[in-house]
Amino acid sequence: MSNCIEIRGLSKTYKNNKQLIEALKPIDLDVAQGEIFGLLGPNGAGKTTMIKLMLGIIAPTSGSCHILGQDISSLQAKELIGYLPENHRFPLYLSGQQMLEFYGNLGGMSGKTLQTRIDEVLEFVNMTEWRKLKIQRYSKGMMQRIGLAQALLNRPKLLFLDEPTDGIDPVGRMEIRQILEVVKSEGTTIFVNSHLLSEVELITDRVAILRKGVVVKAGNTQELTQSHDIFVIHLAAGTPPSDLAGMTHFSANTQEIELIAGTPDALNAAIDALRKHNCLISAISPKKSTLEEIFIALMHEKQEHLTPA
Ligand SMILES: Nc1ncnc2c1ncn2[C@@H]1O[C@H](COP(=O)(O)OP(=O)(O)OP(=O)(O)O)[C@@H](O)[C@H]1O
Ligand SMILES: [Mg+2]
Repeated sequence: MSNCIEIRGLSKTYKNNKQLIEALKPIDLDVAQGEIFGLLGPNGAGKTTMIKLMLGIIAPTSGSCHILGQDISSLQAKELIGYLPENHRFPLYLSGQQMLEFYGNLGGMSGKTLQTRIDEVLEFVNMTEWRKLKIQRYSKGMMQRIGLAQALLNRPKLLFLDEPTDGIDPVGRMEIRQILEVVKSEGTTIFVNSHLLSEVELITDRVAILRKGVVVKAGNTQELTQSHDIFVIHLAAGTPPSDLAGMTHFSANTQEIELIAGTPDALNAAIDALRKHNCLISAISPKKSTLEEIFIALMHEKQEHLTPA
């Protein structure tokens, strides 16, 4: 799969009254076509700076960013992008339909082509019923769905979402997740910036974690949350021996054992020991940590212990 976003040595230093703020140190990052990519990081880490650079809203101090081979400063690159900003403020006195007409016109669409596309996106985000209602009267979930409709109007190849599910109830969040899954299945790349880690974990294929302008971790969401040397062994019957083949076994009750097994040999030795003690194993699974646990651990590590990913 080729890349949708290619970032090379991209950095941003703000100058404020002679004071230099290094918001983003030189970063390399690739986002593959058709994946959902999450950008995480605490307040002030540089997430918005990075999104603004990728949208061509601010100029980089160094480096480059290409969207499907087009330099981000070009109009061609911008035509490929859809964007749902954080805390968007669409004119409240417009109906959803009128707002879409307004943004469609701004994007150079008009007439029958625009009306047909508006019908499509409204149907897609399940807002057809409320198209004539003023935005003022929309719920937060409806507000985000109409925002998504706006971001999808120009059939973008790359969709940027800033905190798309913030302040939305679980059902509304699920609806947005379902919409994004369909958008992804149509081949659109999605770049999402969010504080809701449990949410990010559910939708992203890969994530990068930013801290003080440096990517401290990047990778496949599944792989990051899957620990490779801690296993949970479930027992249907039997009592495990207190010392499992000399391995550190740090939590046990009669149904579940957590153990550290760095190699398949070590794991099998533990299984042998359990079987010898007439334990009936019903399942063995690698322990999953949440993205939140990984995030918090990374934020507590001293900067010098972190190797840029
Ligand atoms: N226009 C600006 N001028 C000067 N400094 C800025 C400017 N914009 C951002 N910064 C600084 O750059 C750093 C990164 O800010 P940025 O807004 O990118 O962080 P963020 O990760 O989006 O944070 P949050 O989660 O709070 O939105 C911060 O120290 C911020 O104060
Ligand atoms: Mg921000």
